[in-house]
Amino acid sequence: MSDKNQLSLFEYSQPEQKELIPTSSQIPIPAETYDNLTELKQHCQQCYRCELGNTRQNAVIFRGNPQALIMIVGEAPGQNEDETGLPFVGRAGQLLDKILASVQLDPEQDVYICNVNNCRPPGNRTPTPGEIAACKPYLLEQIRLVNPKIILLTGATAVKGVIGDKRGITKIRGTWMEWEGRLCMPIFHPSYLLRNPSREKGSPKWLMWQDIQAVRAKFDGIRNQ
Ligand code: URA
Repeated sequence: MSDKNQLSLFEYSQPEQKELIPTSSQIPIPAETYDNLTELKQHCQQCYRCELGNTRQNAVIFRGNPQALIMIVGEAPGQNEDETGLPFVGRAGQLLDKILASVQLDPEQDVYICNVNNCRPPGNRTPTPGEIAACKPYLLEQIRLVNPKIILLTGATAVKGVIGDKRGITKIRGTWMEWEGRLCMPIFHPSYLLRNPSREKGSPKWLMWQDIQAVRAKFDGIRNQ
């Protein structure tokens, strides 16, 4: 075979490259842009749809099982997450794992953990509405690809970012809400529980214990359907 033929053979075997590298929040990312989470993850590492792209070390996408029935959505990465590229690996994440383990949910097997924002806001400030909007297509694509039956929204930012409900978390935590055919439950953010360590009846930790048991019961119900 001539060199020319060999070259054209290699040309034909090249996989199709996706062009879209969004650098502006004005560029839409339509549903079904990504075939899988690996593609989405690679894309996010090159994302500058908002200014958080300029200060991150790593875009933080997910940990856990992409086939899980339960998705847990947090706010945004902190320092540990920014350094490691994995969500909820600091103190709040360790508490989250303990909460899951208290009802025999395995963080590696039974849940998929991600955030409303994939990049760390400087000083761990709350992400702005513009930053949340810029990152939202990535979250919606993760929800489509993972297809969870249950979504746990940790804290007010996650609730606002996913279902747009602006009510205070204390009002709505522990209630099941239907959103886009999925069951969502707002729960306290683990960082809030770290700041409120009491376990007394009616305390945030006690309420979380009620909520996570309700989640476990729903999970069993769906699994046994
Ligand atoms: N807090 C969050 O909301 N997300 C993380 O990944 C870590 C802390």
